[in-house]
Amino acid sequence: MSKPRILIARAVFPAVIERLSQYFDIESNQADETWSKAQLTEKLRDKAGAFTTGSDRIDADVLAACPQLKICANMAVGYNNFDLDAMTARGVLGTNTPDVLTETTADFGFALLMATARRITESEHYLRAGQWTKWSYDMFAGSDIHGATLGILGMGRIGQGIARRGAHGFGMNVIYHNRSRLDAATEAECKARYVDKDELLKTADHLVLVLPYSAASHHAIGAAELAQMKPTATLVNIARGGIVDDAALAAALRDKRIAAAGLDVFEGEPKVHPDLLTVPNVVLTPHIASASVPTRLAMANLAADNLIEFFTKNKALTPLNPQVLTRA
Ligand code: DGY
Repeated sequence: MSKPRILIARAVFPAVIERLSQYFDIESNQADETWSKAQLTEKLRDKAGAFTTGSDRIDADVLAACPQLKICANMAVGYNNFDLDAMTARGVLGTNTPDVLTETTADFGFALLMATARRITESEHYLRAGQWTKWSYDMFAGSDIHGATLGILGMGRIGQGIARRGAHGFGMNVIYHNRSRLDAATEAECKARYVDKDELLKTADHLVLVLPYSAASHHAIGAAELAQMKPTATLVNIARGGIVDDAALAAALRDKRIAAAGLDVFEGEPKVHPDLLTVPNVVLTPHIASASVPTRLAMANLAADNLIEFFTKNKALTPLNPQVLTRA
C-alpha cells in the first residue's frame, strides 16, 4: 500500500524526519526556504497531511486549493496561523504541541523579565562597545524582582509556571487577569490573586503577557494601557506579536512612560518595528521562548506523533478541533 504524502513545511530535526519516513512519503523543506502563500499552497496541493510551524498560514484559500489535505500538525502551542473554523468546516484536523514546552517557556519568560528589569543586555552592549571606563553608583541601576508585584495577563499553563516561579522562588506578590478565573486550588498553588485588567495595569511592577492571540486580544496593550502602567514598570511579551501595539510601546519606552520592555514576539515578525531598534531600554529576542534543545525535540516529536496517530488510528494526541475526528 502506498504511504500518505505529507509536507514538512520547515526544516526540522533529521531524526524526526527519519521517524516520519517510516509512515509517510515526505516532501520536506530542509533547506528552510521561505515560501510565499502561493508556494506553500502549491506544495500542499497533493498532500494528505502537513507538519507546520507558526509561520505557515493555513487559511480558507489554502484549504480550498488543497482538497486532499486532512491534517495540519503545528509544531507550536499557539495556532493563530490556522483558520481553525475554516479547517473544521472542511474537515481538516489541526493539532498543536501543548504541555511539552510549558516549563521551558516559563523559564524563558522569567529570564527575559530578569534581563529587562536588571538591564542586562543594555549593560553588556555598553561593555562590549568599550564604554566602561569607571564604576559609578547608579550605573545600570534597574528594578528589583524579589518582593515586587508580578502581574500576569493570560493565566494558562505557561502563565501559571511564571506565577509559581515568581511566588515561590522570588517572594513576589502575584496578581493576574484572565478570561476566566482559576479555581481556588490553582490560585493557592500559584499564590496568585485575580484582579481586573485596570488593577493589573496600575499595580504591577512587572507585567508579563502570556495570552493567546486572537481578534479579541489584538493590541490588548496599546497607548491607553501603557499610560495606566507605573513609570517604573517593565513589560514582557512572550505571547504573540500583535498583542502589543509595538509603535505605541516604542513611543512609551522612548518617553520613559514605562521603564523597560522585554520582547520575544513582534507584530509582523521576523520584521521588528524600526522604532524598537532605536530605544535602549528594551531587550529583544527572536521568538525563542520554547527554544531549548530537549523541548524543541519534544515539540517536533509531538507534532510527528499527531500525524502518525491520525493516519494509523484516526486519533490525535492534542487535537484542536476533535469534532473532525468523529465525523463519518
Ligand atoms: C509556540 O509554541 O506557540 C511558540 O511560540 C513557538 O512558536
